[in-house]
Amino acid sequence: MKFFKVSLVALMMLSHVAISQTHRDAKMDQFINSLMQKMTLDEKLGQLNLPVSGDITTGQASNSDVARKIEQGKVGGLFNIKSVEKIRDVQKIAVEKSRLKIPLIFGMDVIHGYQTVFPIPLGLSCSWDMDIIQRSARIAAIEASADGINWTFSPMVDISRDARWGRVSEGSGEDPYLGAQIAKAMVKGYQGDDLSKSNTILSCIKHFALYGASEAGRDYNTTDMSRVRMYNEYFLPYKAGVEAGAGSVMTSFNEVDGIPASANKWLMTEVLRNQWGFNGLVVTDFTAINEMVAHGMGDLKQVSALALQAGVDMDMVGEGFLTTLRQSLQEGKIKQEQIDLACRRILEAKYKLGLFADPYRYCNIKRSKTEVFTAANRKEARSTAAQSFVLLKNDKNTLPIRKKGTIALIGPLADATENMTGTWSVAADFTKSVSLLRGLKSAVGKNATVLYAKGSNLTEDAALEERSTMFGKTLHRDSRSSDAIRKEALDIANKSDVIVAALGESAEMSGESSSRTDIGIPAIQRELLNELLKTGKPVVLVLFTGRPLALKWEHENVPAILNVWFGGSEAGDAISDVLFGDVNPSGKLTMTFPQNVGQVPMFYNHKNTGRPLAEGKWFEKFRSNYLDVSNDPQYPFGYGLSYTAFRYGDIKLSKTSFSAGEAITAKVTVSNTGAVEGKEVVQLYIRDMVGSITRPVKELKGFQKISLRPGESREVSFTITEEDLKFYNSDLKFVAEPGEFKLFIGTNSRDVKEASFILK
Ligand code: NOJ
Repeated sequence: MKFFKVSLVALMMLSHVAISQTHRDAKMDQFINSLMQKMTLDEKLGQLNLPVSGDITTGQASNSDVARKIEQGKVGGLFNIKSVEKIRDVQKIAVEKSRLKIPLIFGMDVIHGYQTVFPIPLGLSCSWDMDIIQRSARIAAIEASADGINWTFSPMVDISRDARWGRVSEGSGEDPYLGAQIAKAMVKGYQGDDLSKSNTILSCIKHFALYGASEAGRDYNTTDMSRVRMYNEYFLPYKAGVEAGAGSVMTSFNEVDGIPASANKWLMTEVLRNQWGFNGLVVTDFTAINEMVAHGMGDLKQVSALALQAGVDMDMVGEGFLTTLRQSLQEGKIKQEQIDLACRRILEAKYKLGLFADPYRYCNIKRSKTEVFTAANRKEARSTAAQSFVLLKNDKNTLPIRKKGTIALIGPLADATENMTGTWSVAADFTKSVSLLRGLKSAVGKNATVLYAKGSNLTEDAALEERSTMFGKTLHRDSRSSDAIRKEALDIANKSDVIVAALGESAEMSGESSSRTDIGIPAIQRELLNELLKTGKPVVLVLFTGRPLALKWEHENVPAILNVWFGGSEAGDAISDVLFGDVNPSGKLTMTFPQNVGQVPMFYNHKNTGRPLAEGKWFEKFRSNYLDVSNDPQYPFGYGLSYTAFRYGDIKLSKTSFSAGEAITAKVTVSNTGAVEGKEVVQLYIRDMVGSITRPVKELKGFQKISLRPGESREVSFTITEEDLKFYNSDLKFVAEPGEFKLFIGTNSRDVKEASFILK
């Protein structure tokens, strides 16, 4: 059903409309031209407004505050309203009671799954498996769209190198190349091949830009970096997401070159639209326009005008656009075309989603009952979670453990149902998550006994625990004395054959506004771990975390460490799959784990400096190093063990020099020398030895995830062309410079085979 007829006048108006985007859809243009002709200034400004839904209970929508605004045409979309019934109610107001009957768009933070929750994005990235990552986004889109949502504020593609920053949990880690692959996979997963299908949703690349580089890892803090670093490192994943067709982009809270992103015309128009050809809609982050007042950019009227001029289309929550742009227009501070363009982009997004053809396209009650949290989706989430876990240490094959005897499961994260999904799981029903205790018990059945005790609270500091367990993610703080809680645990530990210690961070210890200056396991848990080790029983540390932690002491003292991040709604079953060896771990770190917090920001693809420390040295006077700790990470980027072992042969290059237009092939034979089948991520790094600007000591340029049976060998081949050697020079031109390159292939960024070649 078409809501509006296209008029001839509208067709004629086409030539008057400033449309810079390429690949126009003529039908869409006609339709929107016609619609916009009928719109008043206020109705246009209304489209730029994205409020939160407020308090809407089913059947009560028409009494709410927001309903009145919708009727008046003052709302373009709503976010974080959940359920088909509520969304249908609100949509009905828009398409029946507002003058022009323009449907609303419904957004939500569907970050790592909807009700079926997948691992936190940082964990997901450790799978290095683009198929499962894309499928996780596909399932999230199917579930969200079945529940009325048609726009997700995901993927978050900010490069993050500072483990103090809580939001590292929401992204794909420190590497631009891997981050770009994941950005593409996520966009494709959400949007599919046709946005107008009822089970695909609009994706949103965020937070544009550089949000991950906030000073001191403190959230919302200032960022400042060179343009060559922006273009060569931080921009890559955003650009990849745009190239994959992302329909929207979200501005970041931070400033870029001294101008907050939401008012940064260079960023939002020159880079995003002119250089990258983005033709979708730009939405601000939550009240980001209003926050520019505190940034010191002027009053609300001024910052709203700046945002519009910069190329922002939609104002999330703050209503700066809604309340001030009319006056700015009258005063000649902004132009009518700028409002029109923003309005057009929002209408286009709705058109592409098929909302004009059917505003209830995503309101199918039957789908909401049959396509959400299904057994098949949960099965996929379980196997995906198992692939996100990273085995950090496994002395004397402590893992896998057997489904036999008595297993003591101890720790504040052991029976932490509400914490399994991790941060940003707004659509999840926490009570349905599988805790580790539940997972272990169902895995062993009657074959073994699982004894459980909490062992300690999350932290000694009750106020800190409260801040770290917000949004219903309680750890049910135990009010007994620490000694009493620990004694109970030691009693069961002494009765057991093996101890599984479920320790680390709570779900809300990472995520937004959850930065930490101490990135260790909280002291009280470490003391518990120490006591458990003293029992002399084998101890497996199952580490829950949303960020790289400093694990020097744990690495030196605990025989086996399995990092499980926050695995999602099926976490407990997935962890059990790996603990018992039903699944062989294959995750590889996508963020460097430092030895201590003083080393951060720490990342493998750093520059060499003029005074690098000689290989194998700890300290040399007048070199770039620390007095008190070596420059080594605890675990390097790309690192992760398996229950089997892989041997790498030497690199064979097809030639040692090549010219532009040619290619070079690097081959390496990888063998499974252990006793079980396993997956390995074979990683290719390159170093440009001499450049017109300094180049990183290593850059990931390719990877392949392979599966090998015991005794099996496979030749893995990478093709390198001039394109792979290009970078942005000091004029920001994308060039490859002739000269020597080193090439590394290995199991992580540190343990590699090496070869070199020349680009002529
Ligand atoms: C603020 C966060 O920075 C952003 O990632 C999120 O999408 C919005 N709030 C909406 O919830």
